[in-house]
Amino acid sequence: MKIELSGRRALVSGSSQGIGLAIATELARAGATVVVNGRDQGKTERAVVEVVGAVPGAEVLPIAADLATAEGAESLRERAGELDILVNNLGIFGARPVLEIDDDEWRRYFEVNVLSAVRLIRLYLPGMIERGFGRVMNIASDSAVATPVEMVHYGMTKTALLAVTRGYAKAAAGTGVTVNSVMAGPTHTPGVEDFVGELVGTDLPWDEAQRRFMKEHRPYSLIQRLIEPPEIGNMVVYLSSDQASATTGGAVRVDGGYIDSILP
Ligand SMILES: NC(=O)c1ccc[n+]([C@@H]2O[C@H](COP(=O)([O-])OP(=O)(O)OC[C@H]3O[C@@H](n4cnc5c(N)ncnc54)[C@H](OP(=O)(O)O)[C@@H]3O)[C@@H](O)[C@H]2O)c1
Repeated sequence: MKIELSGRRALVSGSSQGIGLAIATELARAGATVVVNGRDQGKTERAVVEVVGAVPGAEVLPIAADLATAEGAESLRERAGELDILVNNLGIFGARPVLEIDDDEWRRYFEVNVLSAVRLIRLYLPGMIERGFGRVMNIASDSAVATPVEMVHYGMTKTALLAVTRGYAKAAAGTGVTVNSVMAGPTHTPGVEDFVGELVGTDLPWDEAQRRFMKEHRPYSLIQRLIEPPEIGNMVVYLSSDQASATTGGAVRVDGGYIDSILP
């Protein structure tokens, strides 16, 4: 299979670092024009430099917008124009005892992790349907189906994204537009590297720290290492392709086998 995304225009929300940046890079490598986004314009511009460094000649545009707000989504839409590929990657997470999560915090998580995706889908899906092609991907997590007790509010948003995905896929039935969730598992991002250090100590070489973290804290992972962000990018590239035309309305896993289930 040879995937070619030349001529396609993509947006990855929250892509000035981490998994989003890796997704943007892999989409650009496959030939797509990519809009990278974050709240900080300087950081989005540095992300563009990184993508072009990895993929010389790539067409990448930095658009800063706070996608936790309706105004931010509208303003991004005005500057980004129409899209063929929408990747709702933006997501915040943090540990908090569930009995201490107040109404405002529940709302904030819903607003940033779920409504940001819903708003962009509402803005972009009609154009995709009209043109008869579109690819929407919502980046979910193993936490969507295995609620982590230390961040129930985060898990709730990822479960919601699975339902949102299924619902919009139905709304796009028979149009050539697909809508899917990508369930990422424990991934090697700077935030997770710090988290590993906190749990197993910062004095170990990285390989040993990672091995110990997986064995002691993520024993169900079948790959027994963190997922590298481009591995998630590769799945997004596939789902963005013409070849993935029969995959819609579901959740695909890039979780290293972390969820103990025989269903996808
Ligand atoms: N890391 C993991 O192990 C893991 C596992 C499973 C799933 N996931 C999911 O993967 C996705 C990416 O995670 P990550 O760890 O790569 O994230 P991350 O490193 O925390 O990056 C977050 C990105 O979002 C941007 N951002 C934050 N708030 C924003 C807002 N209101 N509007 C626009 N942009 C905003 C940030 O830039 P600014 O701060 O400049 O705005 C940054 O570019 C999330 O949906 C997460 O739930 C992650």
